[in-house]
Amino acid sequence: TTRDKVCIIGSGNWGSTIALLAGQNVRKHSDAFEERVPVWVFEEMVNGKKLTEIINTTHQNVKYLPDYDLGDNVVAIPDLAKAVEGATALVFVMPHQFLDKCLDTIEGHIAPGAKAISLIKGVDVDGADIHIFADVIQDRLGIRCSALSGANIASEVAAGRFSETTIGYRKGFQEDGVLWKKLFETPKFKVQLIEDVSGVSLCGALKNVVAVAAGLSDGLGYGNNTKSAIMRIGLIETKNFCQEFFDDVLPETFLEESAGVADLITSCLGGRNRKTAEAFVRTGKSFDELERDMLGGQKLQGIHTAKDVHIFLQARNRIGAYPLFDKVFHICWEGMDVNTLTDGL
Ligand code: NAD
Ligand code: 13P
Repeated sequence: TTRDKVCIIGSGNWGSTIALLAGQNVRKHSDAFEERVPVWVFEEMVNGKKLTEIINTTHQNVKYLPDYDLGDNVVAIPDLAKAVEGATALVFVMPHQFLDKCLDTIEGHIAPGAKAISLIKGVDVDGADIHIFADVIQDRLGIRCSALSGANIASEVAAGRFSETTIGYRKGFQEDGVLWKKLFETPKFKVQLIEDVSGVSLCGALKNVVAVAAGLSDGLGYGNNTKSAIMRIGLIETKNFCQEFFDDVLPETFLEESAGVADLITSCLGGRNRKTAEAFVRTGKSFDELERDMLGGQKLQGIHTAKDVHIFLQARNRIGAYPLFDKVFHICWEGMDVNTLTDGL
């Protein structure tokens, strides 16, 4: 039997955490995977040195996941086309705003029989059209793409705190789920499988908008009842959105999977979207400034998803059915008074 050759595309906070897990698991499952795990790293200088060189000598991503040893079989590669050469198990884990450019580079360079999985949280919107990123990857590369999402604050997973996640696989292709589970699961990182790529992806994307609302509420000092109400309303809007615009989402994904309610809760309690939204209210700075000042190069997804969802709902003439999503958009992008956060909910 031939072994799968993994490539991790993306090396931020979550990408580095996932590289750490995959690096350990390919050694544990040496029957299934080749030992070397190439990781595409968007090259930059850190303290006067190339980040790829730092990773390949110290085995740490000192900028995006400091203090964790990724293992000496995890190899940083700055050239994306080289990184994916011959890879049969492609893991997409970059901030969603950079995916399109990556696909431009690797389209036509993918090994036959390769499979992909998307860990990206966001949606691809063009007016009245919406796509999950697993579908974008699948369509552009012509290979099957699963999705992984869950209550997974990267630093907690890296620290080995017990966490769960969900892998959604394509209808009739449970074997893909089984393969990806082998690559990611550890005793402290439990993977559930479900035949629902759309639900897993959409829950992961939309909870970031809800997390922004939770952060705004924190910034206003509104307390736990309000935040719980935001979580509940956010979950309902998420479910309604999935069921209105996607016909293949399974109902159990919302409440029975880590990708559903659990990720919504962890992101509304911790997470970068919540934290910067709180600071947005307290400091009056823009999200661009806050991202730069507070996140050390890491990227916000929720405010962009709020805008994408707004564009889509407006094109479909359905904004009125999603008042929380709409409020987040207007407060973050249109200067609406944050004190109106709960009006009309
Ligand atoms: P991140 O937020 O740490 O982003 C930084 C990454 O973006 C770095 O690898 C950087 O090199 C890269 N980058 C910066 N400019 C770039 C450019 N012009 N082109 C290409 N790459 C560039 O990334 P992350 O935390 O790994 O998040 C990746 C995805 O995983 C996101 O969709 C996120 O929502 C999701 N996710 C994150 C977490 C988490 O806790 N961090 C958990 C689950 C899912
Ligand atoms: P933040 O991007 O808000 O940190 O959320 C991370 C995440 O997706 C947790 O599952």
